Amino acid sequence: MTVLVTGATGEVGRRFVPRLLQRGTDVRVLVRDEERGARFAALGAQVAVGELRDGGSVVKALGGVDAVVNIAAAFRGVPDEEAWAVNHTAAVALGTAALERGVRRFVQVSTNLTYGAGRGRPASEDDPSAPGGMLWGAYPASKAAADRDLLALHHEHGFDVRIARLAFVYGEGDSHLADSMRWAGHWAAHQRLQLVHHADVCQALWRLLTAPDVAGRAYNVADDAPVTAYELHEANGVEPPAEAAARVDPDPWYGVVTNRRLRDDLGYRPLFPTLWTARDAGAL
Ligand SMILES: NC(=O)c1ccc[n+]([C@@H]2O[C@H](COP(=O)([O-])OP(=O)(O)OC[C@H]3O[C@@H](n4cnc5c(N)ncnc54)[C@H](OP(=O)(O)O)[C@@H]3O)[C@@H](O)[C@H]2O)c1
Repeated sequence: MTVLVTGATGEVGRRFVPRLLQRGTDVRVLVRDEERGARFAALGAQVAVGELRDGGSVVKALGGVDAVVNIAAAFRGVPDEEAWAVNHTAAVALGTAALERGVRRFVQVSTNLTYGAGRGRPASEDDPSAPGGMLWGAYPASKAAADRDLLALHHEHGFDVRIARLAFVYGEGDSHLADSMRWAGHWAAHQRLQLVHHADVCQALWRLLTAPDVAGRAYNVADDAPVTAYELHEANGVEPPAEAAARVDPDPWYGVVTNRRLRDDLGYRPLFPTLWTARDAGAL
């Protein structure tokens, strides 16, 4: 099986690709910068150089591919137009081109933020996107539109699309946890963030890629216990602001998801069920 992976140079992709290669999978990475592809070539991957928004380079990268894992996304400080162009337009174009070229399977990497406003309980995969909430904007909106339109390729054409909706990813030296200090200080101390460790993202993507009979299904990829803003400060060794204790969380279920479908369908058990397990293992 040859798998095309986009977004290989990003935080998730650079940790996923080596694990995929270790499993004996033939991997082709789509990278924008040839030099940054060299580390994957050294590990045994094929390297396709191209831009996701360029149909020509996408079609070339798809040649001889059995499955796609679309990890690429534009969301770190990019204009809204770019977020929509990469996360929605280019993702759907990639899925359509893959379908037309006989690619058998397509794993789309999405986010728990697509659920939008909280439901008063953990969000599950059949909950429709409800635009709104404190982090709503071009990123979640464009990812939600991509989920919808890629799943339509399954419903209308039988294409084997699977969606992975990741919580806030951390661990293995990713600065994401430290970066949370830029905004968690403005939260109520009890406000919660759902996390997932990179090792668990990688096992979940592997399960989604290889499981039979889950075409057209979405899966939340999360650990077992959201952490509070207070605990985020604790994990980062930062004193939370005194006023955080008096603040009230406007939506206590915002971004909180259940991982039960991933457990029940695909046998997922998080290697790091909580942030504290990862800390104890020296895996931050
Ligand atoms: N990190 C999280 O906490 C989190 C949470 C939920 C969901 N997710 C999802 O997980 C995925 C990966 O996130 P990440 O944290 O790894 O993001 P990241 O570090 O920002 O990486 C983004 C990747 O996408 C590539 N990319 C962006 N625009 C592109 C384009 N026009 N053409 C080709 N490649 C392009 C980047 O390539 P360059 O290196 O060339 O820029 C990079 O490889 C995304 O789909 C995101 O929505 C992440």
